[in-house]
Amino acid sequence: MALEIKNLKHLVDDGTHGREILCDINLKLDQGESLALMGDSGSGKTTLLNLICGLEPIQCGDIHIGNINIKNAADKKISLIRKNDLGIIFQQFNLLTGLNIRDNIAFSAKLANKFDHEHNERLTKNLGLAHLLNKFPATLSGGEIQRVAIARALAAKPKLLLADEPTGNLDLKNSNTVVDLLAGLAKTYNTALLIVTHSQQVAQRMDKVYRLVCGQLTQVNALEIEAD
Ligand SMILES: Nc1ncnc2c1ncn2[C@@H]1O[C@H](COP(=O)(O)OP(=O)(O)OP(=O)(O)O)[C@@H](O)[C@H]1O
Ligand SMILES: [Mg+2]
Repeated sequence: MALEIKNLKHLVDDGTHGREILCDINLKLDQGESLALMGDSGSGKTTLLNLICGLEPIQCGDIHIGNINIKNAADKKISLIRKNDLGIIFQQFNLLTGLNIRDNIAFSAKLANKFDHEHNERLTKNLGLAHLLNKFPATLSGGEIQRVAIARALAAKPKLLLADEPTGNLDLKNSNTVVDLLAGLAKTYNTALLIVTHSQQVAQRMDKVYRLVCGQLTQVNALEIEAD
């Protein structure tokens, strides 16, 4: 099992009182399996990803990544998991402004000692980034930055890849390329993929689809998906 969430609850403080945005979340994701997470804006999707990657403390419930329960793990252990096993494509892409695109893409993979030159070349070519490698993030368009963030997360061939609306800024052609790459990666490298999306087309390409509504997570039939 790549990811297992048990009885997860999460309250946020909205100024006057606590509001439970995740009520009793249970989820399992195997290696090589892909999952789309849908839900209205503000329903708690990014919060759930932040909890999975240890960026928000777990208030109640358990999250296992591989055989590690991150609720009980020390910060150092969580950092190691993030470095070695997790790929994250944030909704805000967090590129390193002082590094050119080549170094941004290689950054996490080199940090984890998993840099693979051929894999990297393939990624930059497939994502249409080869001509941008010497540029800096400030000079790129929103869609180009998004593709760099995707390449960076894929470069280290993570065991679990979390992607927060990775196709949000992309046109249909680039969106299809990205989904092909993500789904291909999941199968080729046995990566578990959790992708947040508002797109019906993207969701239908995943093995299973869940929707977050009023803090409850329910599986939906891929044929009955409605766009958010
Ligand atoms: N640290 C926080 N303190 C208070 N409220 C928060 C905090 N983090 C998130 N929220 C609130 O929790 C709710 C869920 O936010 P979240 O970012 O997880 O939504 P989302 O489903 O990712 O939305 P979107 O589709 O717009 O990205 C929102 O109402 C947000 O305002
Ligand atoms: Mg979000």
